[in-house]
Amino acid sequence: MAEPQSVWLVDEPTPKSAPLASDVTADVCVIGGGIAGLTAAYRLQDVGRSVLVLDAREPGGGETAFTTAHLTWELDDRFSRLAEVRGDEVAKAAAASHRRAIDDIERVARAEKFDCDFVRVDGYLFPGLDGTKALDEEREAVRRLGLEHEEVASVPLARRPGLRFPGHARFHPVKYMNGLVAAVRRRGGQVHGGTRAVKIAGGDQCRVELEDGSAVTAKAVVVATNAPFEAGLTLHLRLAAYTTYALALPVPANTVPDALYWDTEDPYHYVRLLPTAGRGADLLIVGGEDHKTGQASDQDERWGRLAEWARGLVPAAGEPAYRWSGQVFETADGLGLIGAAPWGKNVYVITGDSGMGLTHATLGGRLVADLIAGRENPLAAVYDPGRWTPAAAFELMKENANVAAQYADWVTGGEVNSPDQIPPGHGAIIRRGLTKVAVYRREDGSLCERSATCPHLGAIVRWNPGEQTWDCPAHGSRFTCEGKVLHGPAVSALEKVE
Ligand SMILES: Cc1cc2nc3c(=O)[nH]c(=O)nc-3n(C[C@H](O)[C@H](O)[C@H](O)COP(=O)(O)OP(=O)(O)OC[C@H]3O[C@@H](n4cnc5c(N)ncnc54)[C@H](O)[C@@H]3O)c2cc1C
Ligand code: FES
Repeated sequence: MAEPQSVWLVDEPTPKSAPLASDVTADVCVIGGGIAGLTAAYRLQDVGRSVLVLDAREPGGGETAFTTAHLTWELDDRFSRLAEVRGDEVAKAAAASHRRAIDDIERVARAEKFDCDFVRVDGYLFPGLDGTKALDEEREAVRRLGLEHEEVASVPLARRPGLRFPGHARFHPVKYMNGLVAAVRRRGGQVHGGTRAVKIAGGDQCRVELEDGSAVTAKAVVVATNAPFEAGLTLHLRLAAYTTYALALPVPANTVPDALYWDTEDPYHYVRLLPTAGRGADLLIVGGEDHKTGQASDQDERWGRLAEWARGLVPAAGEPAYRWSGQVFETADGLGLIGAAPWGKNVYVITGDSGMGLTHATLGGRLVADLIAGRENPLAAVYDPGRWTPAAAFELMKENANVAAQYADWVTGGEVNSPDQIPPGHGAIIRRGLTKVAVYRREDGSLCERSATCPHLGAIVRWNPGEQTWDCPAHGSRFTCEGKVLHGPAVSALEKVE
């Protein structure tokens, strides 16, 4: 199989943005230039705020470039579950807010006159090997909630009974990101890449400290870093990091109906089409095989199972042309954590994508802009990051018991006894006295040794052979094979060892 590469970055790179050069002041400092941060910046401009967007790497190059870009209002975790734990009124409000988010994406692209391949399509939910119980419960829930749907005797592609949801859409996420960056700049905002924030102090004047020692002062800060950093335990206890896998396989042109498809299994499979007009084949994008980040090392088998599953649907599908993976952050009730951060005055957060990060980010951008502008927004209670959901407490306890169990790695032995046992291009954990070392052997045979202790909250990282990264099994921080931060909540690299 090809080396991991997101299909979206093949012919649409994210342009380089210069780092912030000096200390500055803005009305609002937005940390993170993914769809959440850029949408928040755009909406803040709507309410007259000056914005400064900072991204540790390239704006648009985070998880948004590794999505599969289904724009859905039917929840991944399903309305039957949300209504059970939060009630019917919250479920209805959530449905309306995700529908509006899809409309917003379409409107922004139109208003700012950029093309992001936005196309309205239907969404289809169908039963998997788990039987029809989940589908039956969802049918009952959407009927009771009055959400638009249709029962279909044969879902296209899946050829089994299911539910059709109109008004979904697909788009090209990187084209959308590049369009948003240009729009925010055109409207007077600053967007900088290569600028990592490492500390936030909330207050009447917030202060954001940067990796290079400089600082930004702002009246408000929006933390839109996918996984929030500086969040203490308050938010990390409410978020569970999962890795999810994707493939793009060629299928004969015009043979797969253009729609979004997903099944009821846990983890579920999700499918969409990327029509490659005029090139003789379309691409079928298939995702799934989720597991808790850092808690599996069989990436090739997972991509292999996805390909096999896709060929079960489309026997004519060819060998995968692209494969990649990324992270999603689940919450106990399946809704994002969006609003005033529980840890700092005038600090706001958009996180907890729950596999629907594109619509959560889009509605989240609008919500935090309203909160900063002092406007009433009924969604504030629906997405309140500090909410307590007793009916979802078991789910929360299960996830946190799993996190606690990961710290047992401190007392276990190493995976290998000596670096000699590590082949070129691979990594392994070695025990040295009381500590553990993450050892990577470069292709030229030389070694890169880093502390295996995650700088976030001290769990031991694990080698991800599929992506050649060190992944933390506690809260989802990821590091390159040489120890640099790829994904937070960590903000610093794995430490060097003597
Ligand atoms: C394989 C896969 C499939 C998915 N499919 C779907 C789907 O079909 N539909 C859907 O709605 N969602 C989907 N998702 C989820 C969705 O793509 C993400 O939730 C969403 O893109 C996240 O956007 P974001 O802006 O929160 O994060 P990001 O895009 O990751 O942006 C965060 C940015 O913050 C920056 N950053 C991080 N830390 C710092 C720091 N300390 N200082 C400065 N900058 C920092 C990063 O560099 C990054 O650019 C999928 C995800 C994956 C991985
Ligand atoms: S991400 Fe929290 S300890 Fe590693």
